[in-house]
Amino acid sequence: MQEVIRPAARLQGRFRLPGDKSVSHRYAMLASVAEGTSVIHNYSSGADCHSTLGCIRTLGIQVEVDGREVKIHGRGLHGYQAPQTDLDAGNSGSTIRMLSGLLAGQPFRSRLIGDESLSRRPMQRIMAPLEQMGARISACNGSFPPLEIRGGPLRPIDYSMPVASAQVKSCVLLAGLLADGETVVREPSRTRDHTEVALREFGVDLESGAGWARVKGPAKLEARELTVPGDLSSAAFFLVAGAIVPGSDLVLEGVGLNPTRAALIDFLVAAGAQVNVLDMKMQNGEPVGDLRVRGSQLKGGVIDKQLSAALIDEIPVLAILGAVSTEGLTVRDAAELRIKETDRIETVASNLRRMGVEIETREDGFHIPGGQQFGAATVESHGDHRIAMAFAVAALRAGGDVTIEESEAASVSFPEFWSTLRGIAG
Ligand code: S3P
Repeated sequence: MQEVIRPAARLQGRFRLPGDKSVSHRYAMLASVAEGTSVIHNYSSGADCHSTLGCIRTLGIQVEVDGREVKIHGRGLHGYQAPQTDLDAGNSGSTIRMLSGLLAGQPFRSRLIGDESLSRRPMQRIMAPLEQMGARISACNGSFPPLEIRGGPLRPIDYSMPVASAQVKSCVLLAGLLADGETVVREPSRTRDHTEVALREFGVDLESGAGWARVKGPAKLEARELTVPGDLSSAAFFLVAGAIVPGSDLVLEGVGLNPTRAALIDFLVAAGAQVNVLDMKMQNGEPVGDLRVRGSQLKGGVIDKQLSAALIDEIPVLAILGAVSTEGLTVRDAAELRIKETDRIETVASNLRRMGVEIETREDGFHIPGGQQFGAATVESHGDHRIAMAFAVAALRAGGDVTIEESEAASVSFPEFWSTLRGIAG
């Protein structure tokens, strides 16, 4: 499919975003190993989170979906049944990496598969700690899906992660639930802590501090009723859109503002964006608030060191902001961009160039000079949801119509993206 996006005069509106993708995956996985029925409200409508539900079903767990409400009938840590077919993670790195932690401790063999993009993403980062814990895992060329996990009893470990990755941290913590003793994970820089927050919500005794988390197994999880906050990474597209289109005024309701994700707001404000948090409350241990963004004079900025890990999913759309800012955007220390759903340094650069925008790439980032204009063009999502949506945002400030090829990719995290965009662009 393709979408043609017209330049917008201004953006206006108030709306709610789909449930956070990261939180939805975690609630579903934890509910599947809790004892009793959990109810999850505002579950992500994205295909990735539905891949997680599909895998849980294949493991014999009853799942009922009614729009954005999901009921999961958990049967405890050892309630999974040996799967009769492959577990299909689709496009979802979070599904395959985090679920592997739970599967490593099960007394059966499971095989996890994914689509073409997922089949190119490295799994060695989760295989290493899980093998230290006692699981036996084989992968294509030693690192790529399909993954075959021969689970069994697990030993607790004290693991220092070589890369800052919340998926790896979560995988080890989930395996730690099944191990006999204390499992500790240490991270080189702070990553999102939704797993730690969610584990406490499900009644697990989890300790954590700056850069580490510890869980004691075997643990017992209690079923819960929970509400997923709106997805801040989906909000990012509209925060940038509202800031770059002059005269815009948008309110995004009920957005998750976990401090390990909210570096985005600080970065936008420092870049000159008029973004305000209107009101905040706590919901299942996660801060949630309404965000207002208005058309702004943008100066751009630098993303490097620990900030690169904190903003890794938002960098494609921040590149769009960088191009129209006065000083541009420099990104360093972000080599992880190359192993996301696509090589996002290359997919951002090739589409910007199609729109006549200058960008210099390097191995771990790029530099986009400021003061540029987007030209009318046809751009490619390359099947990557965040690339499709980032370039739809660029189109709103372009000199003419922009066609986005493979626009259906947005459904991986945000199926309502195109209708929401049309609603605010008038
Ligand atoms: C996620 C962690 C990040 C992020 C991904 C979701 C999570 O990946 O890019 O979209 O939910 O834990 P890494 O753990 O690979 O950094």
